[in-house]
Order: sequence, then structure tokens, then C-alpha cells
Amino acid sequence: MLVLGIETSCDETGVAVYDTALNKLIAHELFSQVKEHERYGGVVPEIASRSQLDKIYPMITAALMHAGINLNDIDVVAVTTTPGLAGSLFVGLCYAKAIAWGLHKPLVGINHLEGHIFSSFLQVDGSSAAVPFPHICLSVSGGHTGMYLVEDFGVYHRIGYTIDDAAGEAFDKIAKILGFGYPGGPMIEQLAAAGKFIDYCKYPRTKNLNDEIFFSFSGLKTAVLYDLVKRGAYDFKLGTIVQVMTPELQQQVASSLLVCIADIFENNLRCALKKYPQAQAVTFTGGVACNKYLRGRLERYCQRRNKNFIAAPAKFCGDNGAMIAFVGAYKAQQGAFDNLYLDIAP
Ligand code: KG4
Ligand code: ZN
Repeated sequence: MLVLGIETSCDETGVAVYDTALNKLIAHELFSQVKEHERYGGVVPEIASRSQLDKIYPMITAALMHAGINLNDIDVVAVTTTPGLAGSLFVGLCYAKAIAWGLHKPLVGINHLEGHIFSSFLQVDGSSAAVPFPHICLSVSGGHTGMYLVEDFGVYHRIGYTIDDAAGEAFDKIAKILGFGYPGGPMIEQLAAAGKFIDYCKYPRTKNLNDEIFFSFSGLKTAVLYDLVKRGAYDFKLGTIVQVMTPELQQQVASSLLVCIADIFENNLRCALKKYPQAQAVTFTGGVACNKYLRGRLERYCQRRNKNFIAAPAKFCGDNGAMIAFVGAYKAQQGAFDNLYLDIAP
């Protein structure tokens, strides 16, 4: 069975084809709109949806060409329907419906977060490898930060979530405070490496009362801001950094922030492993899972706890069509199809 996966939930147009006979992706195309949003310091929904419309056809054409097939060879169309930006989601869904209707192909709506959760099954070469069930997944991106107990394909329970911002959002907002563009995560990682991953500023960590799995990052952003104001490096009235903000200070802030977020993740993982000792492995997915320092910290923690640690390959951490095609493949094998009334749920 050949499954076409379409992902257009935010600012990436991802298209992939997964072959269930080979257990492998046979095409994977991705267009990122990062350059179009960079100067606004974040994703502009209107720009995002128009760009999706612009790119969906060329990306699908490229994926089919690389797979050496045409649209008629596709057996199932899988598409992200939730969560995301309404205008962006509509582009992928309408395109998927047009293919399903025009060529009489079955349609499967996919939850984007389920895509991220199961992206740990994908290997760098596009093949898939089993991750033992049950396992704990920490999925962290610009819009979401959550922990899940994953029991089987499509069977997972949310065991902890952020009560405010996502961790990626904290990286993006703090990078903006430091005077950098969007997305902030990669820049924070680069600066933190220059700062040698030392905890200079000792920002407050969220407390896991009664070992409850719990994330909150908006207070961290405020703590960074007030600390910079106290050091005379940020002007509240102007809303910009001032001259005192040296490259060294930027590195110290980034380094302290990354260590703080790693501590928060590690502590939540400790709570999760205490509550769910049956977990056979720990996975790390989502755009923030590209971060090598965070991967290293979580991997070392899992080694100490004798748990397998699997991070999704960097190219499948951010939004992509591959994870949607993969989830689409097991949903199709389970017969979980949708009809042409399928709608989005932003
Ligand atoms: O999964 P993703 O591509 O989109 C969402 O679903 O949100 O994640 C994007 C997020 C952004 O907040 C970005 O700053 C963050 O992932 N990110 C990183 C790194 N690369 C991307 N955060 C920390 N370190 C990185 N290397
Ligand atoms: Zn995502």
C-alpha cells in the first residue's frame, strides 16, 4: 500500500509517500516558510496559508516524481486536520479531499501531535524501526509541550502538558528579547554552546509538587526579562536590548536557559518513570528535539535509569509529511478511514 502524507498545519509544507510493503518512505519533500516569517519575529497566519497554497502542488508533484509514481498509484491519502492554523490546515485538507474525490482514494485525517509522537519510529534513511510499547514520549515544539504514555499504534494517553507556553515558544520569545529573529531555538543552541552550557543565571525551575508531571514556561520568559532589566541590558520602555547587552551576556542567558529547560525535562521524566515504571523506552520528538544538548542530557539520564532512549532523526523532528504518511499507514491498516465530510479542528 502506498500512503500519501500531507502536512500543512503551520509554516511547513510537507509531503511524503510511505510504502507499507517496504516499511519505508519512498519520497519525502519539505518546504519551510521560515524566511517569509523571519522578519516578523513569528509566524504570520495570513502569509502562512497563502504560502501553503503556493507550495502544495509543486511539493506533491516533486514527491511523486522522486517516488517514480503518479497520483493514480497512491492507495490512501493521509492529511493533518488538527491542531494548527485554520487557513494552513484548509489548504492540505482541501487538496487531500480533491485527490480522494477525483481519484476515488480513501482519506485519513491525522492529528498532528500523533504524527510527532510516532516520528520516533522513523530512521534517517526513511525506513521504520519498532520502538517497544509501552513507552514515554516527550514531544516538544513551538506550539506544544507534552508527555505521553504510548501503548500501541494510535493508543496513547497524555500524562502531562504545559499549562501556558510551549518550550519552543520560550526559546523563540527569549531569542527575540535577545535581539534575534525567528525561529529562536537554533540560535539559542548556538549561543549556549559558546557559553559552554554553564548555568550562569540560575533561572527558577518549575516545581513538580507530589511528583506531578507538569510544564510551564511563561514564568521563565518573565524571569529572563526581569533579570536583563536588573542588569541594565534591556529597556522596558523601548522594548529592546541596550548597549550593555554584550555577546558574552547573550551567551550566558542562552546557556542558562538551555540548562534550565533540560533540568525541567529531566525532572518531568523522573516523575513519569516513577509513575509508569513499565515504560520500555523514552522517545523525544518535535522541533525542539533537534537540540543536541537536550538530546544528550535526556540520553544520559535514560542510561542512568536503564531505559532505551530514542530521539526522532533531526529531519523528522520539525513538522514534516513523513510522520503523517507513517501514521496514515497504520490507520489505513486498521481501517480507520474518514469520509469526504472530514473537517479541520484548529
Ligand atoms: O515542530 P516544529 O517544527 O513546529 C511546531 O509544531 O511548532 O517546532 C518548531 C520549534 C520552534 O519553536 C523552534 O525554535 C524550535 O522548534 N527549535 C529548536 C531547535 N530547532 C528548532 N529549539 C531548540 N533547539 C533547536 N536546535
Ligand atoms: Zn509540529
